[in-house]
Amino acid sequence: MSGGRRRLGGVWRRRRPLRTRLALAVTAAVAFVAVGVCAAAYLVVRSALYEQLDLSLTQSARLAAQRNPGEPAGTLAGECRFLAAPACAEVVPADPADDPGRPGQLPVAPAAREVAAGERAPYYTNIAVAGHPARMLTTDYAKGRALQVALRADTVEAGIEEASRWLLLTAVAGVLLAAVLGYWVSRTGLAPVTRLTATAERIAATRDPRHRIELPPPLPGALGREDEITRLAGSFNTMLGELEQSVTAQRRLVADASHELRTPLTALRTNAELLARAERLTDAQRERASAALGRQLREVTGLVNDLIELARDEEPTPLVEQVRLDAVVERCVEGARAHWPGVPFVVRTEGVVVAGVPARLSRLLTNLLDNAAKFSPGGTPVEVDMAHDSGVPEVTVRDHGPGIAAEDLPYVFDRFYRAGAARALPGSGLGLAMARQIARAHGAELVAEAAPGGGALFRVRFAAAPA
Ligand SMILES: Nc1ncnc2c1ncn2[C@@H]1O[C@H](COP(=O)(O)OP(=O)(O)OP(=O)(O)O)[C@@H](O)[C@H]1O
Ligand SMILES: [Mg+2]
Repeated sequence: MSGGRRRLGGVWRRRRPLRTRLALAVTAAVAFVAVGVCAAAYLVVRSALYEQLDLSLTQSARLAAQRNPGEPAGTLAGECRFLAAPACAEVVPADPADDPGRPGQLPVAPAAREVAAGERAPYYTNIAVAGHPARMLTTDYAKGRALQVALRADTVEAGIEEASRWLLLTAVAGVLLAAVLGYWVSRTGLAPVTRLTATAERIAATRDPRHRIELPPPLPGALGREDEITRLAGSFNTMLGELEQSVTAQRRLVADASHELRTPLTALRTNAELLARAERLTDAQRERASAALGRQLREVTGLVNDLIELARDEEPTPLVEQVRLDAVVERCVEGARAHWPGVPFVVRTEGVVVAGVPARLSRLLTNLLDNAAKFSPGGTPVEVDMAHDSGVPEVTVRDHGPGIAAEDLPYVFDRFYRAGAARALPGSGLGLAMARQIARAHGAELVAEAAPGGGALFRVRFAAAPA
C-alpha cells in the first residue's frame, strides 16, 4: 500500500501507511491502558501499606500520651537512636529554646514546632534514622508541645519496592503485548483492504475491468449485515461490472459504427472518383453522379450525427423541465406532415405534463413518426394517440403498413438492425436505438408490438405523471 501525502504547514509530507498508523494507534492505546493500570495499582498498594503503618503510629501516640501526660520536652518512650521496636516517642516544644540539653534523636522540622504551637494539624513524614527508612507522626500533645512518634518502615518500603518491581515488569510486558497486538490487529483488520487495493492496482495496470475482488461466501441470514469492508468490496465489484458493461458497449458501438460507415464511404469515394474524371461523362451522367454524391454525403452526416447522439448517455439535468407532452406531440406531427405530405396523420392528444428535455422528446417521437410514415403504404393513415390511464402518461404511434415480423421484434431496437424488408428503404437502423435510449433516460419505456388488424404499434409509457 503506498503512502498518501498530507499538507502540513504548507509542505507536503509523506503519510505513514494506514497499516502502520493502525498498529501504532492500537499499540499506544493498549500500552496506555497497561501503564495506567500498573501506575494505579502501585499507588493503591503503597497507600494500603502506609495506612497500616500510620494506624499503628496513631495508636502508639495515643498510648504514649495516655501513659505519660504532661511530660516536658525529651524522649517519652522507646529508644529513638536506632528505632528498635516498639515505637519511640519524643516531646517537641514549640520554642526551640525549651529543647532539652541533649538533642532528641528524631529530626525536628519547623512544621513540628507549628504543631506544638497548635498552628498546624498533625501530619506523617518519611524519615531516615541511622540509615533506615522510618515513618513519623507529629501530633499534638500538651499545650505548647507536640508529640513525635516514629516506627521503622523497612518492611513497608521493601514491600513497596517489591510491588513496584513486579508492576514495572507487568507494564513492560503489557507494552510488548500491545505492540504484538497492534501489529496483529492491523494485519488481520486491513487484509481485505490490502486485497481491494491489489485488485484496484491490477486493474489500473492492465486496464482490464474483468477483475473482481473475491468476497467471502455469504453466510445464511447475514445478508445486509456484512462488515463495512465486505460491503465496500461488493460495491467495488458492482462498479467494476458496470464499467465492464460500459466499456463493452462502447467498443461494440465503435465496431458497429465503423462497419456501417464503410459502405456509404465506399459509395462516396466511387462517386467522387467518377466526378474527378468529369470530362469523360455526359451532362446527364455528371448530374446523376453529383446528385448521388450530395445524397450520400447527407446520409453519412446524418449517420454520424446519430452516432454522436447515441454515444451520449444521459440527459443533462439542467435541461430537464416540466414539459407539456401534448404540445410536443402536436409539434412533431406538424413536422412529420410537412416531411411526408402523402401520409395522413390522425392525432388525439390530452393535456399531460412530464419531466424531460423537450428537444429529446421531440427526437424520440419524430423517429417513431418517421418510421410509421416510411412503412405506410400510400394513403393509409398514421394514428397518434395519447392515453393517461391510472396516472401513467402514454403515447402510441400506429401505422397500417407491413408491421414487424415476430422474429424481428426482439431486435428492432438494436443499433443498425434493419429487418430484411426494410433494407430497400433509406435508413441506417439507428432511429429506434436512439428512441429507446431517450425513453430510458426519461424513465419511460418504449415497446413495439403488432397492432390489431395489421401494422406496427409503438408505445411510450412514462413513469407516473407529476401532480
Ligand atoms: N413502423 C414500422 N413498420 C415496420 N417495420 C418497422 C417500423 N419501424 C421500424 N421498423 C423496423 O425496425 C427497423 C429499425 O428501425 P430504425 O428506425 O431503428 O431504423 P431505420 O428506420 O431503418 O433507419 P433510421 O431510423 O436510422 O433512418 C427498421 O429497419 C424496420 O425493419
Ligand atoms: Mg427509423
